[in-house]
Amino acid sequence: MSTIRIEDVAFVRFRAPDLGEMRGFLEDFGLVMVEATTTRLVARGAGSSPVAHVTELGDAGFAGVTFRAESLADLQRLAEAEGAAVEVLDLPGGGSVVTLADPDGHRVDVVAGQSAADPLPVAEAQAWNRLGAHERLRATKRIAAGAASVVRLGHVVLNVSNFRASEQWYKERLGFITSDEIRLSPEFALGAFLRCDRGDQPTDHHTLFLMQGRKGPGFNHAAYEVADLDDLMRGHQRLQDAGRHAEWGVGRHILGSQVFDYWRDPWGHTLEHWTDGDLFTAVDGSNIATVQDLLGVQWGPAPPPTMG
Ligand SMILES: [Fe+2]
Repeated sequence: MSTIRIEDVAFVRFRAPDLGEMRGFLEDFGLVMVEATTTRLVARGAGSSPVAHVTELGDAGFAGVTFRAESLADLQRLAEAEGAAVEVLDLPGGGSVVTLADPDGHRVDVVAGQSAADPLPVAEAQAWNRLGAHERLRATKRIAAGAASVVRLGHVVLNVSNFRASEQWYKERLGFITSDEIRLSPEFALGAFLRCDRGDQPTDHHTLFLMQGRKGPGFNHAAYEVADLDDLMRGHQRLQDAGRHAEWGVGRHILGSQVFDYWRDPWGHTLEHWTDGDLFTAVDGSNIATVQDLLGVQWGPAPPPTMG
């Protein structure tokens, strides 16, 4: 039994030496600025979460991941179990936060009590004429050019130095369930896709992926859900036209099934657009998978050696 069960990932924090440059990238990526001062940028998606990406002025780097607890009572319970303080969350939407460090020293914040933001308009869902199911009759389809409609942060991937140690740390505190564990051999697991324990409520195939690799501990990528396939592709075009650094995509993953499109921010941090991922409940179990399943695609290019 874990200390608490989290609802979802909430936002990621970075540092960057040029906030104007970061803002330009984030707007091409499809995030919306809610705060832009000389020392901090705060961006949101179109969904109800008030914060999706935070950048503080400083030397470039990853500065932490934030998960959302179900309630303030849960946050209090986590704080007591960890001997940590519940503090005021100094970001749009307010709320409370407990700050921890995982076994590799990654900053892990858990928040609760944020005020929901009013959702913003997103690209309108359009019917598709599929073979045998022609849903769009006597009507054209026009996709306006523009950045993707980023709705929410969906998952974060962390490189860790010891998968089993990190897995235990996150599961004991935050109640993750394994969706797919990646085995290099029958005896050795190098990582796992972990989903939230939301009982019978469907949740993303993974909210956190922990990966023990050659590169040592650090940030791997953060992934934002967009409206749909057309939205992802128009977002791809916007980033390409803006001369941004494409990392991997467009393709469809095997594990999680998402359509994916990975880009790099001006300092090399990888952010992903995704859509059409798997949703599971707590009873949907756990699977063992291979590195080929992890890196393979159902369609699309193979991963570049720089990925991750
Ligand atoms: Fe991803």
